[in-house]
Amino acid sequence: MGIDISKYKNVILLDHPLIKHKITQLRKVETSTHKFRPIVQELSVIEGYEALRNVETIDVEVQTPIEKTIQPEVRINDLCFVPILRAGLGMADGLLELIPGAACGHIGLYRDEVTHEPVEYYCKLPADIGEKQVYLLDPMLATGGSACGAVQILKNHGAKRIAFICIIAAPEGVKAFCEANPDIPLYIGALDRCLNDKAYICPGLGDCGDRIFGTVGKK
Ligand code: PRP
Ligand code: URA
Repeated sequence: MGIDISKYKNVILLDHPLIKHKITQLRKVETSTHKFRPIVQELSVIEGYEALRNVETIDVEVQTPIEKTIQPEVRINDLCFVPILRAGLGMADGLLELIPGAACGHIGLYRDEVTHEPVEYYCKLPADIGEKQVYLLDPMLATGGSACGAVQILKNHGAKRIAFICIIAAPEGVKAFCEANPDIPLYIGALDRCLNDKAYICPGLGDCGDRIFGTVGKK
Protein backbone atom coordinates (compact mmCIF):
# COMPACT_ATOMS: atom_id res chain seq x y z
CA MET A 1 0.00 0.00 0.00
CA GLY A 2 1.63 3.26 -1.14
CA ILE A 3 0.81 6.49 0.63
CA ASP A 4 1.48 10.17 0.07
CA ILE A 5 2.09 11.34 3.63
CA SER A 6 2.33 14.99 2.56
CA LYS A 7 -1.48 15.07 2.55
CA TYR A 8 -1.46 14.43 6.31
CA LYS A 9 -0.36 17.70 7.84
CA ASN A 10 0.07 16.15 11.31
CA VAL A 11 2.77 13.66 10.20
CA ILE A 12 6.40 14.46 10.95
CA LEU A 13 8.78 11.95 9.35
CA LEU A 14 12.05 12.33 11.25
CA ASP A 15 14.54 12.26 8.44
CA HIS A 16 18.00 11.90 10.00
CA PRO A 17 20.84 9.54 9.04
CA LEU A 18 21.41 8.55 12.67
CA ILE A 19 17.76 7.55 13.04
CA LYS A 20 17.96 5.55 9.80
CA HIS A 21 21.19 3.85 10.92
CA LYS A 22 19.80 2.83 14.30
CA ILE A 23 16.53 1.55 12.82
CA THR A 24 18.58 -0.57 10.41
CA GLN A 25 20.29 -2.19 13.43
CA LEU A 26 16.86 -2.97 14.92
CA ARG A 27 15.70 -4.56 11.67
CA LYS A 28 18.58 -7.07 11.57
CA VAL A 29 17.31 -10.47 12.67
CA GLU A 30 20.66 -11.14 14.40
CA THR A 31 20.35 -8.09 16.72
CA SER A 32 19.77 -9.72 20.11
CA THR A 33 17.77 -8.30 23.02
CA HIS A 34 21.07 -7.30 24.63
CA LYS A 35 21.66 -4.80 21.79
CA PHE A 36 18.05 -4.22 20.71
CA ARG A 37 16.77 -2.64 23.93
CA PRO A 38 19.49 0.04 24.24
CA ILE A 39 19.02 1.00 20.57
CA VAL A 40 15.28 1.50 21.13
CA GLN A 41 16.22 3.72 24.06
CA GLU A 42 18.75 5.71 21.98
CA LEU A 43 16.22 6.20 19.18
CA SER A 44 13.68 7.43 21.71
CA VAL A 45 16.13 10.05 22.96
CA ILE A 46 16.77 11.32 19.42
CA GLU A 47 13.12 11.23 18.35
CA GLY A 48 12.03 12.71 21.68
CA TYR A 49 14.51 15.55 21.24
CA GLU A 50 12.79 16.42 17.94
CA ALA A 51 9.25 15.92 19.25
CA LEU A 52 9.98 18.21 22.21
CA ARG A 53 11.23 20.99 19.96
CA ASN A 54 8.13 23.14 20.53
CA VAL A 55 7.69 22.36 24.19
CA GLU A 56 6.64 25.30 26.37
CA THR A 57 9.23 27.11 28.45
CA ILE A 58 8.82 29.56 31.29
CA ASP A 59 11.20 32.39 32.22
CA VAL A 60 12.81 31.99 35.64
CA GLU A 61 15.26 34.11 37.58
CA VAL A 62 18.58 32.38 38.30
CA GLN A 63 21.72 33.53 40.07
CA THR A 64 24.88 32.67 38.13
CA PRO A 65 28.28 33.04 39.82
CA ILE A 66 28.37 36.46 38.09
CA GLU A 67 24.86 37.95 38.30
CA LYS A 68 21.11 37.43 38.37
CA THR A 69 19.50 36.70 35.01
CA ILE A 70 16.14 35.67 33.55
CA GLN A 71 16.40 32.42 31.56
CA PRO A 72 14.01 29.83 30.03
CA GLU A 73 13.22 26.51 31.67
CA VAL A 74 11.06 23.66 30.35
CA ARG A 75 7.82 23.40 32.33
CA ILE A 76 8.54 19.86 33.48
CA ASN A 77 5.27 19.55 35.45
CA ASP A 78 3.45 20.15 32.16
CA LEU A 79 4.80 16.94 30.58
CA CYS A 80 3.58 13.37 30.70
CA PHE A 81 4.93 10.36 28.81
CA VAL A 82 2.55 7.45 28.27
CA PRO A 83 4.05 4.21 26.90
CA ILE A 84 1.69 1.60 25.46
CA LEU A 85 2.67 -1.68 27.17
CA ARG A 86 4.73 -3.57 26.51
CA ALA A 87 6.96 -2.27 23.74
CA GLY A 88 6.37 1.39 24.59
CA LEU A 89 8.24 0.83 27.87
CA GLY A 90 11.46 0.66 25.89
CA MET A 91 10.76 4.16 24.60
CA ALA A 92 9.74 5.60 27.99
CA ASP A 93 13.26 4.86 29.26
CA GLY A 94 14.68 7.16 26.56
CA LEU A 95 12.21 9.99 27.09
CA LEU A 96 12.68 9.83 30.87
CA GLU A 97 16.43 10.04 30.33
CA LEU A 98 15.80 13.38 28.55
CA ILE A 99 13.35 14.65 31.19
CA PRO A 100 13.60 12.56 34.35
CA GLY A 101 11.08 14.71 36.22
CA ALA A 102 8.20 14.24 33.76
CA ALA A 103 5.12 12.28 34.83
CA CYS A 104 4.68 8.84 33.30
CA GLY A 105 1.36 7.08 32.82
CA HIS A 106 0.85 3.57 31.43
CA ILE A 107 -1.69 2.03 29.07
CA GLY A 108 -1.70 -1.75 28.62
CA LEU A 109 -2.97 -2.98 25.24
CA TYR A 110 -2.32 -6.13 23.27
CA ARG A 111 -3.48 -7.06 19.78
CA ASP A 112 -5.85 -9.96 19.52
CA GLU A 113 -4.00 -12.49 17.37
CA VAL A 114 -7.01 -13.22 15.16
CA THR A 115 -8.87 -9.91 14.85
CA HIS A 116 -5.76 -7.67 15.37
CA GLU A 117 -8.04 -5.43 17.46
CA PRO A 118 -6.50 -3.89 20.60
CA VAL A 119 -7.54 -5.33 23.98
CA GLU A 120 -7.11 -3.07 27.04
CA TYR A 121 -5.73 -4.67 30.21
CA TYR A 122 -4.20 -1.80 32.21
CA CYS A 123 -4.46 1.94 32.60
CA LYS A 124 -2.82 4.26 35.13
CA LEU A 125 -2.64 7.96 34.30
CA PRO A 126 -1.98 11.13 36.30
CA ALA A 127 -5.20 12.63 37.71
CA ASP A 128 -4.33 16.02 36.15
CA ILE A 129 -3.65 14.61 32.66
CA GLY A 130 -6.06 17.20 31.23
CA GLU A 131 -3.53 19.93 32.07
CA LYS A 132 -0.51 18.14 30.63
CA GLN A 133 1.13 17.81 27.22
CA VAL A 134 1.00 14.04 26.69
CA TYR A 135 3.49 12.08 24.55
CA LEU A 136 2.07 8.67 23.70
CA LEU A 137 4.85 6.17 22.96
CA ASP A 138 4.85 2.95 20.96
CA PRO A 139 7.62 1.79 18.62
CA MET A 140 5.20 0.19 16.12
CA LEU A 141 2.24 1.71 14.26
CA ALA A 142 0.90 -1.24 12.26
CA THR A 143 -2.89 -1.24 11.70
CA GLY A 144 -3.11 1.80 13.96
CA GLY A 145 -5.66 0.06 16.19
CA SER A 146 -3.54 0.24 19.35
CA ALA A 147 -2.53 3.87 18.80
CA CYS A 148 -6.11 4.97 18.08
CA GLY A 149 -7.39 2.94 21.05
CA ALA A 150 -4.81 4.52 23.35
CA VAL A 151 -5.66 8.04 22.13
CA GLN A 152 -9.33 7.33 22.91
CA ILE A 153 -8.41 6.14 26.41
CA LEU A 154 -6.35 9.32 26.97
CA LYS A 155 -9.22 11.49 25.75
CA ASN A 156 -11.69 9.62 27.98
CA HIS A 157 -9.42 10.55 30.92
CA GLY A 158 -9.48 14.22 29.90
CA ALA A 159 -6.23 14.57 27.92
CA LYS A 160 -6.45 17.47 25.47
CA ARG A 161 -2.89 17.93 24.19
CA ILE A 162 -1.53 14.67 22.77
CA ALA A 163 1.34 13.74 20.42
CA PHE A 164 2.28 10.22 19.30
CA ILE A 165 5.88 9.07 18.77
CA CYS A 166 6.72 5.78 17.06
CA ILE A 167 9.80 4.24 15.47
CA ILE A 168 8.34 2.36 12.46
CA ALA A 169 4.97 2.99 10.84
CA ALA A 170 3.05 1.15 8.13
CA PRO A 171 1.09 3.22 5.59
CA GLU A 172 -2.11 1.51 6.78
CA GLY A 173 -1.47 2.69 10.35
CA VAL A 174 -0.61 6.23 9.29
CA LYS A 175 -3.84 6.46 7.29
CA ALA A 176 -5.99 5.07 10.11
CA PHE A 177 -4.32 7.28 12.73
CA CYS A 178 -4.48 10.48 10.70
CA GLU A 179 -8.08 10.00 9.59
CA ALA A 180 -9.16 9.46 13.22
CA ASN A 181 -6.81 12.07 14.73
CA PRO A 182 -5.94 14.78 12.19
CA ASP A 183 -4.97 17.20 14.98
CA ILE A 184 -2.54 14.93 16.83
CA PRO A 185 1.10 15.27 15.76
CA LEU A 186 2.46 11.91 14.63
CA TYR A 187 6.27 11.54 14.80
CA ILE A 188 7.66 8.65 12.74
CA GLY A 189 11.24 7.33 12.49
CA ALA A 190 10.63 5.27 9.33
CA LEU A 191 7.71 4.68 6.99
CA ASP A 192 7.67 1.08 5.78
CA ARG A 193 6.04 -0.58 2.77
CA CYS A 194 2.91 -2.40 3.97
CA LEU A 195 1.42 -4.93 6.39
CA ASN A 196 1.51 -8.68 5.76
CA ASP A 197 -1.49 -11.00 6.26
CA LYS A 198 -0.71 -11.25 10.00
CA ALA A 199 -0.69 -7.43 10.26
CA TYR A 200 3.08 -7.33 10.77
CA ILE A 201 4.97 -4.41 9.25
CA CYS A 202 7.08 -5.22 6.13
CA PRO A 203 10.05 -5.09 6.14
CA GLY A 204 9.63 -4.00 9.80
CA LEU A 205 11.57 -5.60 12.62
CA GLY A 206 9.27 -8.41 13.78
CA ASP A 207 7.55 -8.38 17.16
CA CYS A 208 9.02 -5.41 18.95
CA GLY A 209 7.83 -6.35 22.46
CA ASP A 210 9.32 -9.83 22.12
CA ARG A 211 12.63 -8.45 20.88
CA ILE A 212 12.86 -5.82 23.65
CA PHE A 213 12.00 -8.26 26.42
CA GLY A 214 13.59 -11.43 25.05
CA THR A 215 10.34 -13.40 24.88
CA VAL A 216 10.73 -14.55 21.28
CA GLY A 217 9.52 -18.14 21.08
CA LYS A 218 8.58 -18.21 24.81
CA LYS A 219 5.14 -18.70 26.39
C1 PRP B 1 2.53 -4.21 19.27
C2 PRP B 1 3.10 -2.82 19.28
C3 PRP B 1 1.85 -1.97 19.24
C4 PRP B 1 0.93 -2.79 18.39
C5 PRP B 1 0.88 -2.17 17.03
O1 PRP B 1 2.10 -4.59 20.51
O2 PRP B 1 3.92 -2.55 20.36
O3 PRP B 1 1.27 -1.73 20.51
O4 PRP B 1 1.47 -4.10 18.32
O5 PRP B 1 -0.03 -2.83 16.21
P1 PRP B 1 -1.36 -2.15 15.69
O6 PRP B 1 -0.97 -0.82 15.14
O7 PRP B 1 -1.85 -3.09 14.64
O8 PRP B 1 -2.32 -2.03 16.83
P2 PRP B 1 1.47 -6.04 20.81
O9 PRP B 1 -0.01 -5.99 20.63
O10 PRP B 1 2.22 -7.08 20.04
O11 PRP B 1 1.68 -6.22 22.35
P3 PRP B 1 3.06 -6.31 23.20
O12 PRP B 1 3.72 -4.95 23.14
O13 PRP B 1 2.60 -6.64 24.56
O14 PRP B 1 3.93 -7.37 22.58
N1 URA C 1 3.60 -5.13 16.37
C1 URA C 1 4.92 -5.42 16.26
O1 URA C 1 5.60 -5.58 17.28
N2 URA C 1 5.45 -5.54 15.04
C2 URA C 1 4.73 -5.40 13.92
O2 URA C 1 5.28 -5.52 12.82
C3 URA C 1 3.36 -5.10 14.05
C4 URA C 1 2.83 -4.96 15.29
